[in-house]
Amino acid sequence: MNIILLGPPGAGKGTQAKILVADRGMVQLSTGDMLREVRASGSELGKRFGEMMDRGDLIPDEMIIEMIDARLNEPDCRNGAIFDGFPRTNGQAVALDEMLERKSLPLKAVIELTVDEEALVGRITGRYSCANCGAGYHEIFQRPAVEGVCDACGHTEFKRRPDDNEQTVRDRMEVYRRDTAPIIPHYEAQGLVQRVDGMADIAKVETAVAAILDA
Ligand code: AP5
Ligand code: MG
Ligand code: ZN
Repeated sequence: MNIILLGPPGAGKGTQAKILVADRGMVQLSTGDMLREVRASGSELGKRFGEMMDRGDLIPDEMIIEMIDARLNEPDCRNGAIFDGFPRTNGQAVALDEMLERKSLPLKAVIELTVDEEALVGRITGRYSCANCGAGYHEIFQRPAVEGVCDACGHTEFKRRPDDNEQTVRDRMEVYRRDTAPIIPHYEAQGLVQRVDGMADIAKVETAVAAILDA
């Protein structure tokens, strides 16, 4: 089963994707995480990506589409793919339709996490993750059981994303409104859009997402 998680920065796409990976063995395809890996490699391309990401700009469609197309050929994606942060433009949505058709991978649902934009700034500026395993946390909403120790791996160092500051978040939201929200009608026309209240707590969102997957 393949799904798209759609929503503005901080809506909870990554948080819910990680829960689905743990509970159902699905595969998280986060284009943001893939780009951060290229960035961390220090290559020329990685540097260019980093500059665009720090401005909150989108990386050109062709590169993103190529990245996802290649990743979808790996056998683990047969366990079900969760598209997290992709597609983000009309061009990406059309390319994904074509790719899924070609690879015989049907789309079960496009889950839109609906949220209040002002709350998102607080979510993003309070976000951090384990420097070792990448487990995600929040200063208020998702603290580790023991302060300063990762629940998942016991590591004690954490990191923050360079684009998680208020100015960049506002720019990313603007880009979401301008380029990404307009793709929702594309999926509405296919009868695939399901809305979930992303302002509910993490466990409630998880239950609502599970109900859609099990329907
Ligand atoms: P990307 O990494 O995709 O960032 P984003 O879309 O801005 O989304 P976030 O990862 O910030 O939010 P999220 O919804 O995953 O929230 P999370 O679950 O972590 O993209 C980054 C950049 O890469 C883009 O700006 C662009 O430059 C580039 N890029 C990526 N994909 C691209 C593409 N397809 N095309 C072109 N360019 C692309 O939650 C946030 C925090 O809130 C966490 O701390 C969490 O603990 C907490 N939280 C989560 N859910 C709840 C809840 N229900 N209640 C309370 N707290 C919660
Ligand atoms: Mg994310
Ligand atoms: Zn960890």
